[in-house]
Amino acid sequence: MYNGTISGSFKNALDWLKLLGDRNPPYLTDKVVGLISTAGGMQGLQAVNTMEFVVRALRGSAVPLVMPIAQAWKAFDKQGVAQDAQLTEQLHALGREVARGSCQFALQRPTKADAAKAETKITPLSDEEAKIA
Ligand SMILES: Cc1cc2nc3c(=O)[nH]c(=O)nc-3n(C[C@H](O)[C@H](O)[C@H](O)COP(=O)(O)O)c2cc1C
Repeated sequence: MYNGTISGSFKNALDWLKLLGDRNPPYLTDKVVGLISTAGGMQGLQAVNTMEFVVRALRGSAVPLVMPIAQAWKAFDKQGVAQDAQLTEQLHALGREVARGSCQFALQRPTKADAAKAETKITPLSDEEAKIA
């Protein structure tokens, strides 16, 4: 979170998703999104809410469970490992929600052939790898 919202560079990256406008269906249609924010202060919900507006504008689906992580500087170590078992469990729960939502959309093949080809290169983590990650 930057000054009560998302950072300018992150917004710029999101705006480049305009490039997905040629897809059929376009943008993030049928994509399931999990929203996580990190804040230096005591709460980060504003950044999550802002991201939710962007997901909607790009026609994606954000799962209801969100993870605003306050005081992120003490929530993770230098390797990015969560310092609190409860935070780890919450992040896993969010991952499970995204996977569950994705299964709903996976029943049909929504994208053009070139987009589908690009997606086949993404290999999901195994359960064991997910535990380490
Ligand atoms: C320009 C700037 C503005 C920030 N504004 C806020 C803020 O409004 N609220 C807050 O909780 N943290 C704020 N922070 C702290 C960041 O949310 C925190 O450092 C977070 O971990 C940012 O991730 P980053 O280090 O990857 O940029 C700000 C940091 C910067 C650099």
